[in-house]
Amino acid sequence: MSRDLRGELRGLIPEDKIGLVTRSFDIIGSKKKAVAVIEVPEELRDFEGAIARAVMKVNKNVTSVLVKESCRTGEYRTRELKLVEGDPNTEVLHREAGCVYRLDPRTVYFSPRESSERERLSSAVRDGEDVLVMFSGVGPIPISIAKRRRNVHVMAVEVNPYAHNYCVENIHLNRVADSIEVLRGDVREVCPGLGRFYDRIMMPLPRGAHRFLDVAMPLLKDVGVLHLYHWAPDKDLFSEAEELIAKAVEAEGKNAEFVGRVKVSQYSPRTWKIRVDARISTT
Ligand SMILES: C[S@@+](CC[C@H](N)C(=O)[O-])C[C@H]1O[C@@H](n2cnc3c(N)ncnc32)[C@H](O)[C@@H]1O
Repeated sequence: MSRDLRGELRGLIPEDKIGLVTRSFDIIGSKKKAVAVIEVPEELRDFEGAIARAVMKVNKNVTSVLVKESCRTGEYRTRELKLVEGDPNTEVLHREAGCVYRLDPRTVYFSPRESSERERLSSAVRDGEDVLVMFSGVGPIPISIAKRRRNVHVMAVEVNPYAHNYCVENIHLNRVADSIEVLRGDVREVCPGLGRFYDRIMMPLPRGAHRFLDVAMPLLKDVGVLHLYHWAPDKDLFSEAEELIAKAVEAEGKNAEFVGRVKVSQYSPRTWKIRVDARISTT
């Protein structure tokens, strides 16, 4: 977040455009080295250098400024980011809730805004559970579970090789290698061969995790909990996700009891990222 970015830009960009300068943006990294990821509207593109320098001036730990050039796209959920100012090496060490994550926002998905959701999710896990985290990215969910709980076994599956490699490194940085196993690959291809059953399966891919419900269902123990993320319209936040789960449960001959509904964050003016928690049992 900016201390007073607009104030810093007074006199450097036309006064009538000051109001278009973003008030909030992500800073990923540490007190020593961080990357700012900012949005610059079309009308301010000629001033992006000045904006980036102002960002660095008001946030002394920011060593690189990246401007968003696209939405998140593709399987890896990354976006095009242009370096506008600072160090071309954009790999950082991000600290969050007693954990540390090395990552480069140019090659992997990571959102510092989701830290409280990660806290909520990992605190649902009980000591001794077997947990499968599909779409695990650089490892923030598996690592926060392993840090918080005893005798857990967490399996993390991720397709992006950069994210997978950071996850392996982050597991060691956080000293949780005894509790987490990692597998690189497409959930659909690698999960059916895992050869074990889980108390809990997490599916943190709002864009399409439901397409993998048929992979998750058979991997749950006789009684297990599923956490599904989904994008939903603000008018009816939970019906679609619950219907998708109900269909997958029926196809597997199981029962679902909906035990949690969370409005996680706003994705666009009318769309929210939500989480539905379901207790799934065999009939
Ligand atoms: C929304 S990100 C979440 C990452 C991580 N859980 C976090 O909270 O930072 C979704 C992740 O799923 C991965 N992914 C997408 N499709 C996948 C698939 N079929 N199999 C495995 N991973 C996949 C992407 O590469 C991305 O890292």
